[in-house]
Amino acid sequence: RKASAALLERIKKYGSVNGEVVKVDKFINHQVDVELFRIMADDMAHHFKDACLTKIITAETSGITIAHPLAEALGIPYIFAKKKKPITMADFYSADSYSFTKQENTTLYVSKEVLGSEDRVIYVDDFFARGNTLKAVKQIVAQSGAELAGCAVIIDKKGEEGVYSILTLDEIKKGLD
Ligand code: G4P
Ligand code: NA
Ligand code: NA
Repeated sequence: RKASAALLERIKKYGSVNGEVVKVDKFINHQVDVELFRIMADDMAHHFKDACLTKIITAETSGITIAHPLAEALGIPYIFAKKKKPITMADFYSADSYSFTKQENTTLYVSKEVLGSEDRVIYVDDFFARGNTLKAVKQIVAQSGAELAGCAVIIDKKGEEGVYSILTLDEIKKGLD
């Protein structure tokens, strides 16, 4: 796959793997390679083109960089769950997610104005690590009555079943050999 090869090439040139930690801040996490994101989003869009999706859901901050080009490719909006509730957000769904990297609980908030029982969504993110964000997103989607039709991430560190990824950590390690 073109997207997998393009991502592996960036990791070889500008990234690294240290045990279970993948360093990608020169092209994914901090500085953003928009050409790479276009290629990865097109790959995901092709995979989900017949899924009859109405929206994409992600969590701020780093999920936005892939949700945006994917939404553009699929011609649907994306929602980014917020980690701080704005005072203007009156009615909302919310769920807690424990972040191991930050060693703290984060609450995700989505306004009832943007998600409802008529929606069919996929969760998109940069990393699937422990699955905590997905768990919180599942709770929010359940509260709204919407349907969660799938999950797509750039790097899946677990090789989780049902998670569509550009590369798994195992594939990256093999590719770097
Ligand atoms: P989970 O959602 O799968 O449970 O992820 P987990 O809590 O384990 O990870 C917490 C944060 O660390 C997430 O960002 C995730 O994207 C990031 N992360 C996990 N593994 C790696 C890795 O190998 N390399 C890098 N660079 N990041 C990793 P976040 O807390 O949601 O923060 P934000 O970046 O979206 O603001
Ligand atoms: Na992140
Ligand atoms: Na994230």
